[in-house]
Amino acid sequence: MNKDVSKILVTEEEIDAITTKLANQITEDYKNSDKPLIMVIILKGSINFASDLMRKIPLPLSIEFMKVSSYGAGTKQSGEIKVQLDLHTDNLKDYDILIIEDIVDSGRTLARLTQLLRGRCAESVKTCTLLDKPSRREVEFVPDYCGREIPDEFVVGYGLDYAEKYRNLPYIGVLDPKVYS
Ligand code: IMP
Ligand code: MG
Repeated sequence: MNKDVSKILVTEEEIDAITTKLANQITEDYKNSDKPLIMVIILKGSINFASDLMRKIPLPLSIEFMKVSSYGAGTKQSGEIKVQLDLHTDNLKDYDILIIEDIVDSGRTLARLTQLLRGRCAESVKTCTLLDKPSRREVEFVPDYCGREIPDEFVVGYGLDYAEKYRNLPYIGVLDPKVYS
């Protein structure tokens, strides 16, 4: 185990089971849609999750990336969401959009992004998050698909970072508070 991780919260085996469960739900829900499906992957934290998830969804789909500003180098959020990398089209008419996120915290990122993409006339906009910290919500937001709810602890690994580190850990662990306090 990494020395900065105080405990492992989600093991590799649990991550595998979670992505299988979510992929099966998504496949079931979208299999009868006649609209093309776009997975909008939120950089950078969601890359491992999206990569595992998409390979378990046997439906035609395409992927796009978006990047929004969030925590910077700390564990507290500024409150404002800024789009740093956008889709290359403003017109999402006739597309089903599924936003893939690593973790929902205040809810601001996904509340804002769903609003933004709905404004571009998508057929549907849904959200899929690996992790959710519902006790931290500052705005009303409920993801359509959620892998696992977790307590109010700062977690790293499997794409999730602290100051750009720990994304390559194969599991999700609680970051030892001594690292950031
Ligand atoms: P929200 O807009 O407050 O819901 O923030 C969501 C974003 O904050 C996520 O995409 C993460 O980048 C970041 N975040 C929130 N909690 C954690 C955590 O425990 N570890 C790493 N990143 C986190
Ligand atoms: Mg993120």
